[in-house]
Amino acid sequence: MDLEKYVASIPGFPKEGIIFRDVTPMLQDAEAFKESVNQLAGFVKDEDVDVVVGPESRGFIFGCPVALELNAGFVPVRKPGKLPREVVSCKYDLEYGSNEIQMHKDSIKKGQKVFIVDDLLATGGTVEAAIKLVEEMGGEVVGLAFVIELVDLKAKERLEAKGYKVYSILQY
Ligand code: PRP
Ligand code: ADE
Repeated sequence: MDLEKYVASIPGFPKEGIIFRDVTPMLQDAEAFKESVNQLAGFVKDEDVDVVVGPESRGFIFGCPVALELNAGFVPVRKPGKLPREVVSCKYDLEYGSNEIQMHKDSIKKGQKVFIVDDLLATGGTVEAAIKLVEEMGGEVVGLAFVIELVDLKAKERLEAKGYKVYSILQY
């Protein structure tokens, strides 16, 4: 199935110079959504994943069904001020703007195998911040998977140089 047909590209959103890659058409189509989740989960079929971690908000959409598919738990990575209990935080830069993410401090147990899932890899800032938090809590990151990778930003190379396994379904 050609999943690229289910990505809409919008030049100039949310700022001039950015081509926004919109995955909502992929979610609207039952077969395309199922196929994208199967491919993401398939990247780690040889790993015994305990927890899928997904960054707000598009990482929730793909991360939750992937967790169910892998018989793993799901842990949300959230923007500041959303989680009600004690958190760990990390600030980072985005392709457009900057951001901070948080996770509940007790969300990952020491030694748990963690698979991080998001819709898109751009600069890698979000996923690097998530990795830092997961590792701070003692988790082992066994893979990073994205529906879309923006190859010109070279985040995959940087992450692979640090020893992480990086997967993407579509490359732009
Ligand atoms: C987007 C996307 C990734 C991140 C990728 O999320 O869903 O999480 O940016 O960019 P990076 O690799 O440069 O960090 P965004 O922060 O726009 O939030 P949203 O999912 O709530 O729209
Ligand atoms: N997040 C960061 N860069 C993006 C892009 N070009 N399209 C969609 N989401 C993004």
